[in-house]
Amino acid sequence: MNGVAIALSKGRILDETLPLLARAGIVPSKSPETSRKLVLPTCRPGVSLVMLRAQDVPTYVQYGAADLGIAGKDVLLEHGAEGLYQPLDLRIGVCRLAVATRRGVDWAATVQRGARIRVASKYVNVAREHFAAKGVHVDLIKLYGSMELAPILGLADAIVDLVSTGNTLKANDLVAVEEVVPITSRLVVNPASLKLKRALVQPLIEALGAAVDERAGAIA
Ligand code: PRP
Repeated sequence: MNGVAIALSKGRILDETLPLLARAGIVPSKSPETSRKLVLPTCRPGVSLVMLRAQDVPTYVQYGAADLGIAGKDVLLEHGAEGLYQPLDLRIGVCRLAVATRRGVDWAATVQRGARIRVASKYVNVAREHFAAKGVHVDLIKLYGSMELAPILGLADAIVDLVSTGNTLKANDLVAVEEVVPITSRLVVNPASLKLKRALVQPLIEALGAAVDERAGAIA
């Protein structure tokens, strides 16, 4: 693609991403929230937005099909994000990855018993590393959504999922029993794009960095 493409994903995070991009002087010609178009030109010459599934953002940027991307640290950790330059913590999408169980379960005792524990998650790689580091043996079950259902229906003893307000856990009678890792969204950049399209890419990184600081100042 001529110019520079920034990979974004739809969903809740877009509500924070679009104002941050606007602060950095990047405004799409149409709203990605309502448009069915997957490539959206912006007011900034040579810069377009491409709309992907969150889990695909690192892959597009890794292969250089998109030059930059905005992805949650959860997605980057699960993907591996090998070879991606990560110049900025955008300080949006603040939440955490946590282990959660049904309310009333004695999680510490379950872990101590050492019996194999079943853990369901979209983040099986992150979960595997988390439990391995603690020396806890778990059987992992890969899911693609509605993870909160797994402990309710007895598919798993625990889940590893994102917790933001905690409302979803609460509504499903679950509680967070361990924090895995704090999460925010990051800017990722293809290293070859940074070299070959530096005149376009570098100012974008700087504008986004300034927008992050400005936003932090406005919130404080
Ligand atoms: C995430 C996560 C939880 C929920 C937690 O899902 O999987 O279900 O948000 O947020 P809360 O603590 O504020 O209730 P999301 O809405 O991002 O959709 P997803 O299931 O497609 O990941």
